[in-house]
Amino acid sequence: MGPIKRMTNRTTETDLITLRPFTREDFARLISWVPTEADLAQWCAAFFKYPLTDAQLERYLESARQPNSRLIFTAFSAEDEGIGHIEISQIWPHLSTRLSRILVAPGQRRRGVASGMVAQALMTSFEQCFVDRVDLGVSAGNLAAIDCYLKLGFRRVGTWSNAILTATGNVDVVWMTVTRDVWAPRGRAR
Ligand SMILES: CC(C)(COP(=O)(O)OP(=O)(O)OC[C@H]1O[C@@H](n2cnc3c(N)ncnc32)[C@H](O)[C@@H]1OP(=O)(O)O)[C@@H](O)C(=O)NCCC(=O)NCCS
Repeated sequence: MGPIKRMTNRTTETDLITLRPFTREDFARLISWVPTEADLAQWCAAFFKYPLTDAQLERYLESARQPNSRLIFTAFSAEDEGIGHIEISQIWPHLSTRLSRILVAPGQRRRGVASGMVAQALMTSFEQCFVDRVDLGVSAGNLAAIDCYLKLGFRRVGTWSNAILTATGNVDVVWMTVTRDVWAPRGRAR
């Protein structure tokens, strides 16, 4: 997958972000981005257990071998530095996908990295998985992430109260969706 420009008109050093398949080489870097239990819970709710370990990531990689289960990516900067993580999961070709486990390296936030990664994952979902809808769930308290997704065309479709019990308590999950008709004019404009 080649580099593409971010969707907004803000020019930053992370204008060019490339998604590459997640491998064992990415384990230590990813683990370093979630040093506390709260960091891990904010990122992935109860999907992984604290502390994140190579063994959990091995099982995660293994799970991606099942057909249409998940596509896992590391995002690289134009300088070839690993700066983010994103996953396309629940892949139902010609129907829908879900974006999950979106994380930006702590020192790289607020520069358009998440926006660039999500834009690329949307492109993959719509143009390679041929879906009509992309969903995601985000903790209701994660206003930064919700704002980021709204700017990319996602709309709130509902809230699931007390959806997940995490290490930091019960979490309400906001479900968000972007459909092909909303995405297409933005996605193809680049
Ligand atoms: C949420 C997260 C992915 C955003 O990544 P990012 O690369 O910093 O996001 P971007 O730079 O693309 O931001 C896009 C928009 O999102 C919103 N946003 C992002 N971070 C924000 C923050 N800390 N406070 C308020 N708004 C924020 C802003 O509207 C921003 O646009 P602007 O910078 O033009 O104002 C990142 O903070 C992160 O990894 N957080 C920890 C893990 C997590 O919460 N993952 C999401 C799970 S669903």
